[in-house]
Amino acid sequence: QRKRAFIAGVADDNGYGWAIAKALAAAGAEILVGTWVPALNIFETSLKRGKFDQSRLLPDGSLMEITKIYPLDAVYDSPRTFQRIRLLSSSSSSSYHLLLLQVKSNKRYAGASNWTVKEVVDSVKNDYGSIDILVHSLANGPEVAKPLLETSRNGYLAAISASSYSYVSLLRHFLPIMNPGGASISLTYIASERTIPGYGGGMSSAKAALESDTRVLAFEAGRKGKIRVNTISAGPLGSRAAKAIGFIEKMIEYSYANAPLQKELRADEVGNAAAFLVSPLASAVTGSVVYVDNGLNTMGLAT
Ligand code: NAI
Repeated sequence: QRKRAFIAGVADDNGYGWAIAKALAAAGAEILVGTWVPALNIFETSLKRGKFDQSRLLPDGSLMEITKIYPLDAVYDSPRTFQRIRLLSSSSSSSYHLLLLQVKSNKRYAGASNWTVKEVVDSVKNDYGSIDILVHSLANGPEVAKPLLETSRNGYLAAISASSYSYVSLLRHFLPIMNPGGASISLTYIASERTIPGYGGGMSSAKAALESDTRVLAFEAGRKGKIRVNTISAGPLGSRAAKAIGFIEKMIEYSYANAPLQKELRADEVGNAAAFLVSPLASAVTGSVVYVDNGLNTMGLAT
C-alpha cells in the first residue's frame, strides 16, 4: 500500500520542504502539500508553467507529482478561533486584531478558502481519508533580525505561534486521521541550544520549544496513535526563509570551514534523512533530535 504524506511549508523548489517531498516521492509516497496562502499563487503558477520541472526530476527519471496543494496558514487553528480572536480583539487593540486586519485586507488571501489547520485536515480527510506521514517544514519570526533583548512580546509570541505551536496544532488535528505506524517530522536549528548571534526575534526560543515538544508529542502521539515524532536539526541552507534572516552565506561558509565534513550541505541530504526517519527503517526512533549538519554540532572549537 502506497504511503501518503502531507508536507506543510512548501512554496518553492529551494527549501527543505521541497527536498523532503522529493525524497518521499522517490521512495514511492503520494505527496500532498500545504502552502502558505500569500505564496500560493506564485507557487502554483510556477509549477504549472514548468518552472520547477528540472528540480522535480526523481532518480528514476520521472517527475515528482504533487497530488494536491492545500492553501494553509498554520497560525490559525480553525475558523472558530479566527472568529473568537476577532471578537476578543474588537474590544482591544491587540496584535491579533492588527494581524487579522492584515489578513482580511490582504489580496493574497482573497481567492483562497479553508486554509486554517482544522479546515485543511478536514479537506484532506474528505479527499483521501487518511495520511501516514506529516512533515512540518515552516517557520516565521517577524522580528528575526532583532536581538532577543530588543524583541517585543508580540514578535516573540508570533515566532512561537508560527514556528512551534503550528506543529502542535498540525499534529493535534492530523493525528485522528493518521494511520497507526505512521510518523511525523519537523525541522529545527541548533540556535535552540547554542547561541547563534543574529538568529533573533525569539526564533531561538521557538526552536527550543519545538525540540522539547518533540519529546512530549512523541510520548503522547506514540501512546495515542502509535505515531513517531522526531525533528531534524539541519545545517544552514540558502532557502528563501534563511535569506530573510540576512547572514545565511556567512553561516554556510562557517559550516564549510569548521564542520567535520567539509562540503556544502545539500537540501536532498536533509530530504533523505527525513525519508529514513518517517520510514519503517526507523521504527524504533521517536522523540529524537537528529542532526543533519555535516557534524557541525559536535565541534567545540572553530578551526
Ligand atoms: P522555506 O522558505 O523553504 O520554508 C519555510 C516555509 O514556511 C515557506 O514555504 C513559507 O511560505 C512557510 N510559512 C511561513 N509562515 C507560514 C504559516 N503561517 N503557515 C504556513 N506556512 C508558512 O525555508 P527553509 O529554510 O527550508 O525552512 C523550512 C524549515 O527548516 C523551517 O522550520 C526552518 O526553520 C528550518 N531550518 C532551516 C535552516 C536553513 O538554514 N535554511 C536550518 C535549520 C532549520
